[in-house]
Amino acid sequence: MQVHKYDVVIVGAGGAGMRAAIESGQRAHTAVLTKLYPTRSHTGAAQGGMCAALANVEEDNWEWHTFDTVKGGDYLVDQDAAEVMAKEAIDAVLDLEKMGLPFNRTPEGKIDQRRFGGHTRDHGKAAVRRACYAADRTGHMILQTLYQNCVKHNVEFYNEYYVLDLITVEEDATREDGTTYKQKRVAGVVTYDLASGELHIFQAKSVVFATGGLGKIFKTTSNAHTLTADGMALAYRAGIPLEDMEFVQFHPTGLAGLGVLLSEAARGEGGILRNSDGERFMERYAPTIKDLAPRDIVARAMAQEVREGRGAGPNKDYVYLDLTHLEPEHIDAKLPDITEFARTYLAVEPHTEPVPVFPTCHYAMGGVPTNIKAEVLQDNEVVVPGLYAAGEVACVSVHGSNRLGTNSLLDINVFGKRAGIYAAEYASTAEFVELPEAPETFVTEQLEMLRNSSGDQRVATIRAELQDTMDLNMQVFRSEESIREALDKIYELKGRYQQITVQDKGKRFNLDLLEALELGFLLDMAEVMTVSAMHRKESRGGHYREDYPDRDDENFMLHSMLYKDPGFETEGVKGIRFDTKPVIFTRYEPMERKY
Ligand code: FUM
Repeated sequence: MQVHKYDVVIVGAGGAGMRAAIESGQRAHTAVLTKLYPTRSHTGAAQGGMCAALANVEEDNWEWHTFDTVKGGDYLVDQDAAEVMAKEAIDAVLDLEKMGLPFNRTPEGKIDQRRFGGHTRDHGKAAVRRACYAADRTGHMILQTLYQNCVKHNVEFYNEYYVLDLITVEEDATREDGTTYKQKRVAGVVTYDLASGELHIFQAKSVVFATGGLGKIFKTTSNAHTLTADGMALAYRAGIPLEDMEFVQFHPTGLAGLGVLLSEAARGEGGILRNSDGERFMERYAPTIKDLAPRDIVARAMAQEVREGRGAGPNKDYVYLDLTHLEPEHIDAKLPDITEFARTYLAVEPHTEPVPVFPTCHYAMGGVPTNIKAEVLQDNEVVVPGLYAAGEVACVSVHGSNRLGTNSLLDINVFGKRAGIYAAEYASTAEFVELPEAPETFVTEQLEMLRNSSGDQRVATIRAELQDTMDLNMQVFRSEESIREALDKIYELKGRYQQITVQDKGKRFNLDLLEALELGFLLDMAEVMTVSAMHRKESRGGHYREDYPDRDDENFMLHSMLYKDPGFETEGVKGIRFDTKPVIFTRYEPMERKY
């Protein structure tokens, strides 16, 4: 067994991971472990922009940005974190500019900015131009820029290394009040090298998780095949709680029937949503900012139109994104990729025809709980020394129950940078934690079990059934009944998962084997998501309960915290303990959320 030793190990080479690596790599001996070649990471699929109150084209300031973020998240946002993000946004964009990112420019040569959902001037008075962008390829440009800068700083990458276990140890510790607890500490990770099929141990003083999201839990998603909740599942299995997992964002404009993302920038540039009657229906749901309302509101409005029979197409199951009133040159200059997607995948010409769209699973607001230093929390207060998380895998919580568009590219830059700095700082004084004996045992056993299984269950079948039930029961509308149905199905699938078999028994490039492991992550996280949704008996942000249609601040202005607890069983839920954590307020009292 090869054991590598680094001060800092970063897991994931998307935007958050590489932004962390640029900082950590200049301060400490750092390795990045990534299951994908870095420039294939999912940050590259982000389209419309990264917001910062630069005020390059309209009056703006970070306080308005903070307010919009808090209100957009339906007040479940930790306001200390939102303030940090909005303030540091400006430097985050300028950092990227200095690294060489080719932002679109105003005629005077400043970074151009465009409108995006929920971003407003002066606390909701009108939409504001806050998103800095590079056509509709902003994420792609960020990813390339960060990778080039990692290369410049000699960051060491281990490409196509899958992290399959987080190695932690527990020590007895005492709180200030004299009570004792088990302090988790991080020792490293167990990885699988796709090319050779060999396991490698990486011992590290600091580990940064930057593994992205979980979109493949759903069938209709803008997420790539690789977004299988790995980091969240590994942390959870290691005894770290997960926060606010019920909140999943459905992006309003997925290509109908496919889920491929059509950027919100299309509406920022003037696109309009219409139902089958040609009506601009968002005027009824959000009279002030209409099509640029936050995504939870727009996605629900679209689904409502379809439910009430105003959907378009042969099955009346989508609405239209109409760009036909915009100048073709404007569309081609500002939205070249997404218009090409419409042509390629749906054979629709956006210059002259409306594009069929429907909500698509896009983003997890919840994840591994962290504080504003990106330190992972093992409960509501205690940090796990040496363990950090940033980006979609983390819940810091700047997005609360609904993220605003363009706050994700911002989040990965602000908190990726912070994670890199704090992880390196910690490693500069910490000692390595001694590895337990044979830390790879659990992974070896899992791999052997899969390779030797004579079961009759197929990975693709179980995954498809999981995605079907999640699309049906856990989408933009939910109820006790639908959540229960999803959970019962997940229990059935978890049972069948014990009987899965892989066809490829070999060692090299065995994606069959890895997809089986990823399916395990998906099943665990789908279970956590549904249990969390069951507990939240109110509607807030991306979580809409038809049986509890109102926001209930008295009982639910709290973060959900879910712990893996094998012995625990209540109301038909097995092995997951539910708890809560207070929301952090600094400036804004919760108000009615009107747009
Ligand atoms: O619509 C978009 O371009 C997506 C942006 C985001 O999710 O932040």
